[in-house]
Amino acid sequence: MAIQPNEITADSQVARIFEWRRGFNTIHLIDLGIRVGMFKAIAEAPGSTAEQLAQKLGLHAPYVTAWCKTAYGMELLDAEDGLRYRLAPHFDTILAAPTHPRYLGGYVRLGTDVAAEDFRRCVEAFRTGVVKPFQGRGDSFNQAIAESTQGLQVIAAKKILPALDGLAARLEAGGTILEVGCGTGNLLLGLAKAFPKARVLGVDIEADSLASARKKIAAAGLDGRVEARQGTVGAAVQTASADAVVMIEVLHEIAQPIRPGVVKECGAALKSGGWMVIVDETYPTTLAEMRQPEFKFPLMTGFEELLWGNIIPTREEQEKLLRDAGLTGEIQRAIIGEGFTVLTSRKA
Ligand SMILES: C[S@@+](CC[C@H](N)C(=O)[O-])C[C@H]1O[C@@H](n2cnc3c(N)ncnc32)[C@H](O)[C@@H]1O
Repeated sequence: MAIQPNEITADSQVARIFEWRRGFNTIHLIDLGIRVGMFKAIAEAPGSTAEQLAQKLGLHAPYVTAWCKTAYGMELLDAEDGLRYRLAPHFDTILAAPTHPRYLGGYVRLGTDVAAEDFRRCVEAFRTGVVKPFQGRGDSFNQAIAESTQGLQVIAAKKILPALDGLAARLEAGGTILEVGCGTGNLLLGLAKAFPKARVLGVDIEADSLASARKKIAAAGLDGRVEARQGTVGAAVQTASADAVVMIEVLHEIAQPIRPGVVKECGAALKSGGWMVIVDETYPTTLAEMRQPEFKFPLMTGFEELLWGNIIPTREEQEKLLRDAGLTGEIQRAIIGEGFTVLTSRKA
């Protein structure tokens, strides 16, 4: 009997497993390429042969040859004259430029370093329900997080905040931006640059990240205008003191039992007319949503971060949190990138 297009067969299901397995290997191939300097070396000298790359990087030539051929097969590299390699379009910024907003090396490393280890722990954790939280995972983890979120931070500082009605004028007049969950402080610096007259205050509960944020603030000569404080929003920030409260990839990291209280403290920290800006993931509510493309990333992130104790809020939970925090006006919602939700709401 003829097989219909899109018919699910045993072979098509087997092919899906092989495709995912190839994805797993490709992520490791990318991670390896970043660690040993392949992407950077090819970006600097397009048209290099595997032998030249091996020599330049002090690597074992047969392994480098296999890496190049596989990366070519996976369309990470293009090649000319047989075996002279260059990066396929756009991978110079995505995989060879750690400070570029599109760089995904940190996200790849979160998979190979952190998720791989967490998934191994899951066998035991599924029996015990143990949690290994975000906080206290160390510098390399904090750095990988910061690299993974830098694109969102650039969008927040350069696009989302400047577009909010009346905010730029308030900040130009010396207003205050509060970033809750500021982590290692990259966005604090980005906001200070985007709004040169504003005061920028960061709050986090993670001591190591804050130490790194404070070093960056001092190195940028921004002590006095930019500050990173440890503690809860309620304890560290005055009521009605901020023109904007910003949270990037933080809402789902706040432990669920204390989430309503933290969001209420954020609402209380806002001045009248100030803006709440939340960039986070939205967990699907219905079965249909679980298979929709824009929910695939939050669905997988929820699984990847199970052991961190993270529970990604659904749309309904997000809206209730904001309403209960006194944000009674319109809640604007947009999806950006792989499936990040941007929520903005103005305090009456
Ligand atoms: C995924 S990280 C994001 C950090 C940073 N916003 C970024 O974009 O790179 C989440 C941050 O939220 C912080 N966090 C979690 N719960 C918090 C709370 N109750 N109050 C303040 N920060 C919190 C974590 O310590 C962590 O630094």
